[in-house]
Amino acid sequence: MKYQFKSMITGLGFSVPDKVLTNADLEKIVDTSDQWIVERTGMRERRIGEQGVLTSDLCSDAARKAMDEAKIDPGDLDVIIVGTVTGDVQFPSTACYIQDNLNAVNAAAFDISAACSGFLYGLTIADNFIASGKYKNILVIGGEMLSRITDYEDRRTCVLFGDGAGAAILQPSDGTRGIVKTFMKSDGHLADLLYMPGGGSKHPASNETVEKRLHYIKMAGQEVFKAAVKSMGDAASQMLKDTKTTTKELDLLIPHQANIRIIDATARRIRLPKEKVFINVDRYGNTSAASIPIAMAEARDMGRLKHDDLCLLVSFGGGFTFSAVLFKY
Ligand code: UT7
Repeated sequence: MKYQFKSMITGLGFSVPDKVLTNADLEKIVDTSDQWIVERTGMRERRIGEQGVLTSDLCSDAARKAMDEAKIDPGDLDVIIVGTVTGDVQFPSTACYIQDNLNAVNAAAFDISAACSGFLYGLTIADNFIASGKYKNILVIGGEMLSRITDYEDRRTCVLFGDGAGAAILQPSDGTRGIVKTFMKSDGHLADLLYMPGGGSKHPASNETVEKRLHYIKMAGQEVFKAAVKSMGDAASQMLKDTKTTTKELDLLIPHQANIRIIDATARRIRLPKEKVFINVDRYGNTSAASIPIAMAEARDMGRLKHDDLCLLVSFGGGFTFSAVLFKY
């Protein structure tokens, strides 16, 4: 066999709010146009959680679907790992609230802050936990309510983001399929190009931080765009090289859904035809850590991700963080 596997994905699920925010809706809120948004980002609509819906609610819903497919009970879970930058509260972790929602009484639960790479960082940790032999059933989630930290007076960012969650169950591989290799890296030098300044030890919450709108996402779009194109292209091509995988052998690329132009550039970089790229940025916008697991679950539901398919996941996000995972589904 060409690859060796330690863990495999045995369940997938996703959950998005019902409420749809279209480009036409945004035209009424800020000085923008459907044409600009579609041409510059590929986005047409995104989902927004109603007041009272929490990140942990979407994550728990996605998790239940993934557990149903894997045929495991909440009590079987050893670890719950959640990638999010929009948890229910500053602390404790959203993973602990999810643990309680699910009644997963035997699990250890924690969040990781790696922005849009949170889910792939989580998969990497889970794969290594399973390889260690210590854990057998791990729930990895990417979940966000970016609408809660989006400034709907800033047209440069408010058209981009949406809410949602996706979840995967990882278990020891049966030897025929599973995770081939994981990669993750960061570049903290560029952290302030995409961040939320308010609410932490640097700018604790105060009237002033609220007046200055520091509790919203700030992004230097063009710089982030350039870094995303380079990092995602590098990560994808390096992963193929390291695993001696050809583009022909690859069945599907599921990239982080931040911008259609970044997705196209990543596919071009590894010379992958468009039919092998999964895209849903038009319907959900950028959901940060949730974007890849939502896309995985949706691709599976649509018959685009089938058992034994070889699939490459690639992410880029605030930090900067970037990551890639190759797996046989
Ligand atoms: O998920 C984590 C990673 N995030 C990303 O990867 C996002 C990366 N960045 C991007 O996707 C793109 O940079 C954006 C979509 C955010 C922006 O696209 P762009 O082609 O880089 O536009 P720009 O920022 O260079 O702005 C071009 C023009 C500006 O007008 P002027 O100064 O040329 O007159 C902006 O003010 O477009 C204007 N603009 C808008 N116009 C209409 C910016 N936002 C909008 C808008 N509607 N929503």
